[in-house]
Amino acid sequence: MKITVSVIKADVGSVGGHNRPSEKLLASLHNHLKQNAQRLLKDFKVTFTGDDGCLLMSHTKGVDHPEIHKLAWEAFIEATKVAKEQGLYGAGQDLLKDAFSGNVRGMGPGSCEMEFEERPSEPLVLFACDKTDPGAFNYPIFRGFADPFHNAGLLLAPDMAVGFEFTIMDVNYTEGDRVIVLSTPENYYDMAVLLRDPEHYVVESVKARSTGDVAAVVSTSRLHNIAGKYTGKDDPVALVRTQKQFPSTGEILSPYATAHYVVGDNRGSHIVSLMPCKQNAIISFFDGPAIVTAMGFCIHNGIFTESVDLFDQPFWDMIRNKAAEKTMHIRDQGFFGAAMAPMEELEYTGVVERIKLLDKKFIIRK
Ligand code: 13P
Ligand code: 13P
Ligand code: MG
Ligand code: MG
Repeated sequence: MKITVSVIKADVGSVGGHNRPSEKLLASLHNHLKQNAQRLLKDFKVTFTGDDGCLLMSHTKGVDHPEIHKLAWEAFIEATKVAKEQGLYGAGQDLLKDAFSGNVRGMGPGSCEMEFEERPSEPLVLFACDKTDPGAFNYPIFRGFADPFHNAGLLLAPDMAVGFEFTIMDVNYTEGDRVIVLSTPENYYDMAVLLRDPEHYVVESVKARSTGDVAAVVSTSRLHNIAGKYTGKDDPVALVRTQKQFPSTGEILSPYATAHYVVGDNRGSHIVSLMPCKQNAIISFFDGPAIVTAMGFCIHNGIFTESVDLFDQPFWDMIRNKAAEKTMHIRDQGFFGAAMAPMEELEYTGVVERIKLLDKKFIIRK
Protein backbone atom coordinates (compact mmCIF):
# COMPACT_ATOMS: atom_id res chain seq x y z
CA MET A 1 0.00 0.00 0.00
CA LYS A 2 1.32 3.40 -0.95
CA ILE A 3 1.43 6.03 1.78
CA THR A 4 1.46 9.77 1.22
CA VAL A 5 3.08 12.13 3.69
CA SER A 6 1.89 15.72 3.32
CA VAL A 7 3.36 18.72 5.06
CA ILE A 8 1.37 21.96 4.83
CA LYS A 9 2.39 25.02 6.84
CA ALA A 10 1.26 28.58 7.25
CA ASP A 11 1.64 31.59 9.51
CA VAL A 12 -1.86 32.56 10.59
CA GLY A 13 -0.98 34.58 13.67
CA SER A 14 1.59 34.80 16.41
CA VAL A 15 2.32 36.03 19.91
CA GLY A 16 4.46 39.12 20.58
CA GLY A 17 5.24 39.97 16.93
CA HIS A 18 6.32 37.42 14.31
CA ASN A 19 7.30 34.99 17.04
CA ARG A 20 5.31 31.81 17.63
CA PRO A 21 1.67 30.67 17.39
CA SER A 22 -0.34 30.69 20.63
CA GLU A 23 -1.22 27.44 22.41
CA LYS A 24 -4.88 28.10 21.56
CA LEU A 25 -4.06 28.49 17.86
CA LEU A 26 -2.09 25.22 17.87
CA ALA A 27 -4.93 23.49 19.72
CA SER A 28 -7.35 24.73 17.06
CA LEU A 29 -5.17 23.25 14.27
CA HIS A 30 -4.92 19.99 16.21
CA ASN A 31 -8.67 19.80 16.86
CA HIS A 32 -9.53 20.47 13.24
CA LEU A 33 -7.32 17.62 12.05
CA LYS A 34 -8.55 15.34 14.83
CA GLN A 35 -12.20 15.90 13.86
CA ASN A 36 -11.44 14.89 10.28
CA ALA A 37 -8.70 12.34 10.88
CA GLN A 38 -10.92 9.28 10.82
CA ARG A 39 -12.38 10.27 7.46
CA LEU A 40 -9.19 11.36 5.68
CA LEU A 41 -5.98 10.68 7.55
CA LYS A 42 -3.96 7.76 8.81
CA ASP A 43 -2.13 9.94 11.32
CA PHE A 44 -1.03 13.52 11.92
CA LYS A 45 1.15 15.78 14.05
CA VAL A 46 0.92 19.54 14.56
CA THR A 47 4.19 21.39 15.15
CA PHE A 48 5.47 24.93 14.77
CA THR A 49 8.72 26.63 13.82
CA GLY A 50 8.88 30.31 14.73
CA ASP A 51 5.50 31.81 13.82
CA ASP A 52 4.56 29.07 11.35
CA GLY A 53 2.13 26.30 12.24
CA CYS A 54 2.92 23.02 10.48
CA LEU A 55 0.61 20.10 9.72
CA LEU A 56 2.29 16.73 9.15
CA MET A 57 -0.25 14.25 7.79
CA SER A 58 -0.19 10.68 6.50
CA HIS A 59 -2.89 9.24 4.23
CA THR A 60 -3.45 7.07 1.17
CA LYS A 61 -4.86 9.67 -1.24
CA GLY A 62 -1.69 10.62 -3.10
CA VAL A 63 -0.06 14.03 -3.50
CA ASP A 64 -2.06 17.14 -4.46
CA HIS A 65 -5.31 15.58 -3.25
CA PRO A 66 -8.02 18.28 -3.04
CA GLU A 67 -9.59 16.83 0.12
CA ILE A 68 -6.28 16.85 2.01
CA HIS A 69 -5.46 20.37 0.83
CA LYS A 70 -8.97 21.54 1.75
CA LEU A 71 -8.59 20.01 5.19
CA ALA A 72 -5.36 21.94 5.76
CA TRP A 73 -6.79 25.17 4.30
CA GLU A 74 -9.84 24.95 6.54
CA ALA A 75 -7.68 24.15 9.57
CA PHE A 76 -5.77 27.39 8.93
CA ILE A 77 -9.04 29.33 8.35
CA GLU A 78 -10.37 28.09 11.72
CA ALA A 79 -7.05 28.90 13.42
CA THR A 80 -7.19 32.41 11.92
CA LYS A 81 -10.51 32.93 13.75
CA VAL A 82 -8.75 32.00 17.00
CA ALA A 83 -5.88 34.35 16.12
CA LYS A 84 -8.36 37.20 15.59
CA GLU A 85 -10.23 36.41 18.83
CA GLN A 86 -6.94 36.50 20.73
CA GLY A 87 -5.60 39.55 18.90
CA LEU A 88 -2.53 37.65 17.67
CA TYR A 89 -0.20 39.49 15.33
CA GLY A 90 -0.59 38.81 11.60
CA ALA A 91 -3.86 36.86 11.88
CA GLY A 92 -4.36 35.01 8.59
CA GLN A 93 -1.03 36.39 7.28
CA ASP A 94 -0.27 33.56 4.83
CA LEU A 95 -3.83 32.98 3.53
CA LEU A 96 -3.52 35.18 0.46
CA LYS A 97 -6.61 34.10 -1.48
CA ASP A 98 -10.26 34.23 -0.44
CA ALA A 99 -11.73 31.19 -2.12
CA PHE A 100 -10.14 27.75 -1.91
CA SER A 101 -9.47 26.35 -5.38
CA GLY A 102 -8.51 22.72 -4.81
CA ASN A 103 -4.84 23.05 -3.87
CA VAL A 104 -3.03 25.24 -1.35
CA ARG A 105 -0.16 25.83 -3.79
CA GLY A 106 -0.30 29.41 -5.02
CA MET A 107 -2.59 30.43 -2.15
CA GLY A 108 -0.02 31.24 0.54
CA PRO A 109 0.62 28.11 2.65
CA GLY A 110 3.81 26.20 1.91
CA SER A 111 3.55 22.51 1.12
CA CYS A 112 5.65 19.50 0.28
CA GLU A 113 4.38 15.96 -0.18
CA MET A 114 5.70 12.55 -1.14
CA GLU A 115 4.05 9.22 -1.94
CA PHE A 116 5.97 5.97 -1.48
CA GLU A 117 5.76 2.28 -0.70
CA GLU A 118 6.91 2.06 2.94
CA ARG A 119 10.15 0.23 3.60
CA PRO A 120 10.17 -2.17 6.60
CA SER A 121 11.62 0.78 8.51
CA GLU A 122 10.94 4.21 7.06
CA PRO A 123 12.94 6.99 8.77
CA LEU A 124 12.13 10.57 7.78
CA VAL A 125 13.28 14.03 8.73
CA LEU A 126 11.00 17.06 8.62
CA PHE A 127 12.98 20.29 8.31
CA ALA A 128 11.15 23.56 8.90
CA CYS A 129 12.57 27.07 8.57
CA ASP A 130 11.32 30.42 9.76
CA LYS A 131 12.42 33.85 8.51
CA THR A 132 13.88 32.65 5.22
CA ASP A 133 12.90 31.38 1.76
CA PRO A 134 12.90 27.97 -0.02
CA GLY A 135 16.36 28.57 -1.49
CA ALA A 136 17.69 28.11 2.06
CA PHE A 137 17.51 24.37 1.41
CA ASN A 138 19.64 24.49 -1.78
CA TYR A 139 22.93 24.36 0.08
CA PRO A 140 22.19 21.54 2.58
CA ILE A 141 20.25 19.40 0.07
CA PHE A 142 22.93 19.75 -2.62
CA ARG A 143 25.73 18.90 -0.22
CA GLY A 144 23.80 16.23 1.71
CA PHE A 145 22.92 14.32 -1.46
CA ALA A 146 25.83 15.11 -3.78
CA ASP A 147 28.97 15.82 -1.76
CA PRO A 148 31.06 13.00 -0.26
CA PHE A 149 32.45 15.49 2.29
CA HIS A 150 29.04 15.22 3.97
CA ASN A 151 27.58 12.11 2.42
CA ALA A 152 30.17 9.39 2.97
CA GLY A 153 27.59 6.90 1.66
CA LEU A 154 28.37 8.14 -1.87
CA LEU A 155 31.74 6.44 -1.41
CA LEU A 156 30.83 3.65 1.01
CA ALA A 157 27.30 2.50 0.15
CA PRO A 158 26.91 0.81 -3.30
CA ASP A 159 23.22 1.86 -3.53
CA MET A 160 24.18 5.51 -3.45
CA ALA A 161 27.22 5.39 -5.74
CA VAL A 162 24.98 5.92 -8.81
CA GLY A 163 23.92 9.31 -7.41
CA PHE A 164 20.67 11.20 -7.25
CA GLU A 165 18.28 12.96 -9.62
CA PHE A 166 17.28 16.53 -8.76
CA THR A 167 14.26 18.47 -9.99
CA ILE A 168 15.05 22.19 -9.80
CA MET A 169 12.42 24.89 -10.18
CA ASP A 170 12.77 28.39 -11.60
CA VAL A 171 10.78 30.15 -8.88
CA ASN A 172 10.81 33.48 -10.73
CA TYR A 173 8.62 32.02 -13.47
CA THR A 174 5.02 32.65 -12.43
CA GLU A 175 3.01 31.33 -15.44
CA GLY A 176 3.36 27.71 -14.29
CA ASP A 177 5.98 25.25 -13.03
CA ARG A 178 9.26 25.76 -14.94
CA VAL A 179 11.58 22.91 -13.96
CA ILE A 180 14.78 21.16 -15.03
CA VAL A 181 15.87 17.62 -14.10
CA LEU A 182 19.60 17.11 -13.50
CA SER A 183 21.53 14.16 -12.10
CA THR A 184 24.66 13.81 -10.02
CA PRO A 185 27.45 13.04 -10.47
CA GLU A 186 27.45 13.96 -14.20
CA ASN A 187 25.52 17.26 -13.96
CA TYR A 188 27.23 18.39 -10.75
CA TYR A 189 28.62 21.64 -12.17
CA ASP A 190 25.37 22.47 -14.02
CA MET A 191 23.54 22.11 -10.74
CA ALA A 192 26.10 24.26 -8.98
CA VAL A 193 25.57 27.20 -11.35
CA LEU A 194 21.81 27.08 -10.78
CA LEU A 195 21.71 26.37 -7.05
CA ARG A 196 24.23 29.09 -6.23
CA ASP A 197 21.35 31.50 -6.96
CA PRO A 198 18.84 30.37 -4.32
CA GLU A 199 16.39 33.24 -4.89
CA HIS A 200 15.90 32.08 -8.48
CA TYR A 201 16.49 28.31 -8.67
CA VAL A 202 15.27 26.01 -5.91
CA VAL A 203 15.52 22.26 -5.39
CA GLU A 204 11.97 20.93 -5.54
CA SER A 205 12.64 17.21 -5.13
CA VAL A 206 15.31 14.53 -5.16
CA LYS A 207 15.09 10.89 -6.28
CA ALA A 208 17.46 7.96 -5.67
CA ARG A 209 18.79 6.80 -9.06
CA SER A 210 19.37 3.29 -7.71
CA THR A 211 15.65 2.64 -7.18
CA GLY A 212 13.79 5.65 -8.62
CA ASP A 213 12.36 6.30 -5.14
CA VAL A 214 11.54 9.81 -4.00
CA ALA A 215 14.14 10.90 -1.45
CA ALA A 216 13.28 14.51 -0.64
CA VAL A 217 10.66 17.17 -1.34
CA VAL A 218 10.84 20.90 -0.60
CA SER A 219 8.15 23.58 -0.54
CA THR A 220 8.85 26.11 -3.29
CA SER A 221 6.22 28.82 -2.87
CA ARG A 222 7.39 32.45 -2.99
CA LEU A 223 4.81 34.60 -1.23
CA HIS A 224 5.85 37.80 -2.99
CA ASN A 225 5.10 36.14 -6.34
CA ILE A 226 1.55 35.42 -5.13
CA ALA A 227 0.89 38.71 -3.34
CA GLY A 228 2.94 41.01 -5.62
CA LYS A 229 4.30 42.68 -2.49
CA TYR A 230 6.10 41.75 0.72
CA THR A 231 3.70 39.85 2.98
CA GLY A 232 6.18 37.92 5.12
CA LYS A 233 8.83 35.36 4.30
CA ASP A 234 8.03 32.01 2.69
CA ASP A 235 9.46 29.96 5.57
CA PRO A 236 9.93 26.65 3.72
CA VAL A 237 9.58 23.03 4.82
CA ALA A 238 11.36 19.94 3.50
CA LEU A 239 10.80 16.24 4.02
CA VAL A 240 13.71 13.81 3.56
CA ARG A 241 13.73 10.00 3.67
CA THR A 242 16.95 8.63 5.15
CA GLN A 243 19.07 5.43 5.43
CA LYS A 244 19.68 2.48 3.09
CA GLN A 245 19.35 3.80 -0.52
CA PHE A 246 19.21 7.36 0.89
CA PRO A 247 21.79 9.33 2.90
CA SER A 248 21.87 8.52 6.62
CA THR A 249 20.10 10.95 8.93
CA GLY A 250 23.47 12.28 10.11
CA GLU A 251 24.68 12.81 6.54
CA ILE A 252 21.59 14.88 5.77
CA LEU A 253 22.12 16.95 8.94
CA SER A 254 25.85 17.43 8.35
CA PRO A 255 25.70 20.45 5.94
CA TYR A 256 23.67 22.45 8.49
CA ALA A 257 26.90 22.68 10.54
CA THR A 258 28.03 25.36 8.05
CA ALA A 259 25.26 27.65 9.34
CA HIS A 260 25.24 29.05 5.80
CA TYR A 261 24.07 32.55 4.98
CA VAL A 262 20.49 32.89 3.74
CA VAL A 263 18.10 35.69 2.79
CA GLY A 264 15.52 36.50 5.43
CA ASP A 265 15.54 37.61 9.07
CA ASN A 266 14.09 41.03 9.82
CA ARG A 267 11.45 42.08 7.21
CA GLY A 268 12.65 39.18 5.10
CA SER A 269 15.29 41.50 3.68
CA HIS A 270 18.64 40.68 5.24
CA ILE A 271 21.43 38.15 4.97
CA VAL A 272 22.03 36.11 8.11
CA SER A 273 23.39 32.72 9.09
CA LEU A 274 20.79 29.91 9.28
CA MET A 275 20.75 28.71 12.90
CA PRO A 276 19.86 25.02 13.53
CA CYS A 277 17.51 25.29 16.54
CA LYS A 278 15.76 22.98 18.95
CA GLN A 279 12.07 22.37 18.34
CA ASN A 280 9.89 25.20 19.67
CA ALA A 281 12.74 27.73 19.67
CA ILE A 282 11.40 31.26 19.59
CA ILE A 283 12.30 34.22 17.35
CA SER A 284 14.18 37.08 18.92
CA PHE A 285 17.24 39.00 17.66
CA PHE A 286 16.39 41.30 14.71
CA ASP A 287 13.17 39.33 14.08
CA GLY A 288 15.31 36.27 13.67
CA PRO A 289 17.77 34.84 13.32
CA ALA A 290 16.63 32.68 10.41
CA ILE A 291 16.12 29.27 12.01
CA VAL A 292 15.79 25.67 10.92
CA THR A 293 14.43 22.79 13.04
CA ALA A 294 14.72 19.07 12.27
CA MET A 295 12.29 16.46 13.51
CA GLY A 296 13.19 12.80 13.01
CA PHE A 297 10.61 10.00 13.10
CA CYS A 298 9.59 6.73 11.44
CA ILE A 299 6.34 5.90 9.72
CA HIS A 300 4.90 2.38 9.75
CA ASN A 301 1.57 1.42 8.18
CA GLY A 302 0.93 5.15 7.91
CA ILE A 303 1.37 5.70 11.66
CA PHE A 304 4.05 8.08 12.94
CA THR A 305 6.31 7.09 15.80
CA GLU A 306 7.24 9.59 18.48
CA SER A 307 9.75 12.10 17.16
CA VAL A 308 13.32 13.03 18.04
CA ASP A 309 14.51 16.62 18.05
CA LEU A 310 17.61 16.26 15.88
CA PHE A 311 19.19 19.64 16.70
CA ASP A 312 18.73 19.09 20.46
CA GLN A 313 22.19 17.63 20.98
CA PRO A 314 25.28 19.30 22.52
CA PHE A 315 27.10 19.31 19.14
CA TRP A 316 24.64 21.88 17.80
CA ASP A 317 25.25 24.30 20.70
CA MET A 318 28.64 25.04 19.15
CA ILE A 319 26.98 25.54 15.74
CA ARG A 320 24.37 27.85 17.25
CA ASN A 321 27.20 29.99 18.69
CA LYS A 322 28.92 29.97 15.31
CA ALA A 323 25.65 31.00 13.61
CA ALA A 324 25.20 33.88 16.06
CA GLU A 325 28.77 35.02 15.42
CA LYS A 326 28.38 34.78 11.63
CA THR A 327 25.15 36.75 11.88
CA MET A 328 26.80 39.45 14.01
CA HIS A 329 29.69 39.77 11.57
CA ILE A 330 27.32 40.70 8.74
CA ARG A 331 24.83 42.60 10.93
CA ASP A 332 27.70 44.90 11.90
CA GLN A 333 27.41 46.54 8.47
CA GLY A 334 23.64 47.00 8.79
CA PHE A 335 22.01 47.55 5.41
CA PHE A 336 25.12 48.18 3.34
CA GLY A 337 25.97 46.03 0.35
CA ALA A 338 25.94 42.30 1.01
CA ALA A 339 24.22 42.69 4.41
CA MET A 340 20.84 43.38 2.81
CA ALA A 341 18.97 41.14 0.36
CA PRO A 342 19.60 41.67 -3.38
CA MET A 343 17.48 44.35 -5.08
CA GLU A 344 15.24 41.78 -6.83
CA GLU A 345 14.07 40.66 -3.36
CA LEU A 346 13.67 44.23 -2.10
CA GLU A 347 11.53 45.15 -5.11
CA TYR A 348 8.56 43.82 -3.16
CA THR A 349 9.14 46.26 -0.28
CA GLY A 350 8.75 50.01 0.24
CA VAL A 351 12.28 50.70 -0.92
CA VAL A 352 11.03 50.88 -4.53
CA GLU A 353 8.69 53.83 -3.83
CA ARG A 354 11.51 55.79 -2.25
CA ILE A 355 13.87 55.10 -5.15
CA LYS A 356 11.15 56.23 -7.60
CA LEU A 357 10.83 59.56 -5.76
CA LEU A 358 14.58 60.04 -5.62
CA ASP A 359 14.92 59.08 -9.25
CA LYS A 360 12.98 62.21 -10.29
CA LYS A 361 15.51 64.38 -8.44
CA PHE A 362 18.51 62.99 -10.33
CA ILE A 363 20.08 65.37 -12.86
CA ILE A 364 22.39 64.60 -15.72
CA ARG A 365 25.28 67.03 -15.43
CA LYS A 366 26.09 68.90 -18.62
P1 13P B 1 22.61 1.26 7.92
O1 13P B 1 22.40 0.44 9.14
O2 13P B 1 21.39 1.69 7.23
O3 13P B 1 23.66 0.72 7.01
O4 13P B 1 23.16 2.66 8.53
C1 13P B 1 24.46 3.06 8.40
C2 13P B 1 24.58 4.41 8.95
O5 13P B 1 23.62 5.07 9.25
C3 13P B 1 25.92 5.00 9.08
O6 13P B 1 25.87 6.37 9.27
P1 13P C 1 7.28 35.93 8.89
O1 13P C 1 7.41 35.75 7.42
O2 13P C 1 7.87 34.78 9.65
O3 13P C 1 5.89 36.24 9.29
O4 13P C 1 8.20 37.18 9.31
C1 13P C 1 7.91 38.40 8.75
C2 13P C 1 8.79 39.55 9.12
O5 13P C 1 8.72 40.54 8.43
C3 13P C 1 9.71 39.54 10.23
O6 13P C 1 10.38 40.78 10.37
MG1 MG D 1 4.56 36.22 10.72
MG1 MG E 1 7.25 32.79 9.66
